[in-house]
Amino acid sequence: MNPIRPLIHASRLRSISSASTSSFSKISRRTLVTPTDPVRATVSNVSPKHVREDPGELDGGDVVANDIEGGKEMFGFKLNPVETKTGGNAKSTGRPIYLDMQATTPMDPRVLDKMLPLFTEQYGNPHSRTHAYGWEAEAAVDEARQHVANLVGAQEKDIVFTSGATESNNMLIKGIAKFHQGKRRHIITTQTEHKCVLDSCRWLSTQGFEITYLPVLPNGLISINDLKQALRPDTSVVSIMAVNNEIGVIQPLKEISDTLKAYAKENGCQKALFHTDAAQAVGKIEIDVEKMGIDAMSISGHKLYGPKGVGAAYVRRRPRVRLEPLIHGGGQERGLRSGTVPAPLVVGLGEACRLATQEMANDHARVKELSDRLINGITSQVDHIVRNGDASGYPGCVNLSFAYVEGESLLMALKDIALSSGSACTSASLEPSYVLRALGAAEDMAHSSLRFGIGRFTTEAEIDLVVERIVSVVNRLREMSPLWEMVQEGIDISKIEWSQ
Ligand SMILES: Cc1ncc(COP(=O)(O)O)c(C=O)c1O
Repeated sequence: MNPIRPLIHASRLRSISSASTSSFSKISRRTLVTPTDPVRATVSNVSPKHVREDPGELDGGDVVANDIEGGKEMFGFKLNPVETKTGGNAKSTGRPIYLDMQATTPMDPRVLDKMLPLFTEQYGNPHSRTHAYGWEAEAAVDEARQHVANLVGAQEKDIVFTSGATESNNMLIKGIAKFHQGKRRHIITTQTEHKCVLDSCRWLSTQGFEITYLPVLPNGLISINDLKQALRPDTSVVSIMAVNNEIGVIQPLKEISDTLKAYAKENGCQKALFHTDAAQAVGKIEIDVEKMGIDAMSISGHKLYGPKGVGAAYVRRRPRVRLEPLIHGGGQERGLRSGTVPAPLVVGLGEACRLATQEMANDHARVKELSDRLINGITSQVDHIVRNGDASGYPGCVNLSFAYVEGESLLMALKDIALSSGSACTSASLEPSYVLRALGAAEDMAHSSLRFGIGRFTTEAEIDLVVERIVSVVNRLREMSPLWEMVQEGIDISKIEWSQ
């Protein structure tokens, strides 16, 4: 945790949790909604009615809208159709400000332009060898592959197209583990990975593999020493994400791969392969698979202003990373991922990567500026805020916890901003985020956390509006909080013994 102003000690915050302003178990499930299709709906308030059934994840799982036909009421909001517009400006459309870039990014209009001919004219199957339709689609796919490779310092042939990072993570972790299972059945990952990595590992543990889940430090980073302690001669793969989707923390990729090499050398064993889930990193920060010693990597199209439903796996060929394919069929994509390559989507991913190669430095500088504006704007006006995760992480992911504010009320009051929170609804209660828990955050601080996702199309005006809204809502909620009143009176609430 990275305190901003003034510094609240974590142990003190933990003690506040027992005296939370309301009992979370009694709260009916939350009603955070952002339209999943941001270009086709507006949101207006109606009384909350609907609840969702499944536990969600912070990056998209909370965002539930499976029926956004015009005028339908859902999850406490009314969704009305509006004119299609990319890039979003909340004021001009009357729609919520979109600050949920880790869930998904709007597609760059230039990406769409590049994709359209592949739907209408160049619709050949890229695997058709006998006519021009196939050849031109194949050429477009090859060009896209080159763009993806360029962005991450890979060779074109190392790139395998998939449906997204979930598939890439499954394919790489399970595929590598299965290939080496004869001699090596140990896998290392971290407690703060995305659900698709954790669940792949969980499945492998049912197949007789042993998994070590590394803890993280209070700032969200792993300890290299913990990694050294966990490594074994029979470790086949180490999977550690590049940028965390909830707190933006950037793991030390080069140091991790150096550690794996050094361990193999010292112990005279085969080096464990290094896989990284880079869904939130590629196109946002510099990633170079060669320089960083990455053997396998997962990429997602819709996190870098490309289309949904497409991604890539980087699979090093020299020295060769060997894995068992999960999908069998026509032998496309080096036999690792059979199925007709979706040329329009792949071309979209390629264009998104080409644009990112050109614009990443600019994007990063802008996002950092907006991020600082947001953080300074809020923390200069409101006290008792904790930033979750190391402050040197990716600036487009800002995770803040607001002490003495009840999380449910905070979200309800911010319906005009599309954000994610550190709580996920389960059927009976609100669960604090497992990532924030892994940092050691107190339960109520996890519940009162908000993730602000800033991106290429976010504007200064949007940030200023968000600052204004957050300041006024937090102040208003604190005014209603008995805990806040006590704090104002100088009572040390950590010393209070609360009766049940
Ligand atoms: C870190 C991370 N890994 C994996 C995924 C899954 O990506 P996709 O939606 O492409 O399957 C996401 C996003 O949901 C993510 O943030």
